[in-house]
Amino acid sequence: EVLSIETIASWWVDAGYRVVLTGAGMSTESGLPDFRSPKGLWKEKDPRKLASISALFANPGEFYEFYRMRLAGLNKAEPHKGHLVLAQLQKERLLNAIITQNVDGLHQKAGAVRVIELHGNLGEAVCLDCGEKYSSKALEEKDFPTCRACGGKLKPGVVLFGETLPSEALRQADMETRRAKLFVVIGSSLEVSPANYFPLLARDVGARLAFINLEPTDMDDQAHLVIRGKAGEVLEELYAKIKSLSV
Ligand code: NAD
Ligand code: APR
Ligand code: ZN
Repeated sequence: EVLSIETIASWWVDAGYRVVLTGAGMSTESGLPDFRSPKGLWKEKDPRKLASISALFANPGEFYEFYRMRLAGLNKAEPHKGHLVLAQLQKERLLNAIITQNVDGLHQKAGAVRVIELHGNLGEAVCLDCGEKYSSKALEEKDFPTCRACGGKLKPGVVLFGETLPSEALRQADMETRRAKLFVVIGSSLEVSPANYFPLLARDVGARLAFINLEPTDMDDQAHLVIRGKAGEVLEELYAKIKSLSV
């Protein structure tokens, strides 16, 4: 049921604790492709062949090439007005936590705090053997980047297919979701577990659940409110409505 931005703004002002969950759709207006839209990354590439641990061992050349390409895109990306609105709402104590599936660091670049990264961050690299952390620059050093400490293979600091999510991030996301009175999903198809579990948990603990998304998702009927639109534009309008209500 697509309702108006007025409704979500009034819910926002009334809710004592607000949490958002963002997906790749939050960053397409910054020029980063998402996955499952018509032009998404997984439309022309098979993620299992590229973005998995087995891919790193089976075809390291292609694997590292894919991430160098993604890094190049990421280094050029800037936060858009939607990222800035979320950071501003946090500054005004009108937004508590941002749980994100994105690895582009754009929320932090926009000045947001309390950003819980469920899938890691592409700005880091980590040694598969000893866990030593590096900047992702280490991935650009040579063909098959290895750890200076132990010689192990380096991988991007993101959760690959088949990997489990960082337990601390999961714990933080669970805690924030249980506190939420309003839970807003922005720019996610909600096709990936366990990220797509948090909206259901929010509902279960009595929060209002709203989606802001360009396309329908399989979970739309679980939401109390769905706004069909672009994250940047909707968030800008929403911010103006919230400010007009809270004067
Ligand atoms: P990925 O696509 O390999 O998978 C990361 C997550 O998806 C993991 O939690 C994995 O367990 C989970 N997953 C499990 N089953 C899955 C399934 N059936 N379909 C999809 N995912 C499944 O991640 P990647 O390709 O290595 O990309 C790394 C990161 O790049 C991702 O975490 C993604 O968030 C990201 N990305 C970010 C942006 C952005 O930040 N704007 C844009 C595009 C991609
Ligand atoms: N505004 C609002 N919604 C948008 C916008 C936008 N500007 N651009 C795209 N969308 C919507 C798309 O319609 C789509 O439903 O965002 C959603 C993006 O969904 P996905 O591409 O599946 O991205 P995401 O949900 O983050 O994927 C989850 O899958 O491969 C893994 O780890 C990867 O974190 C990623 C996870
Ligand atoms: Zn090492």
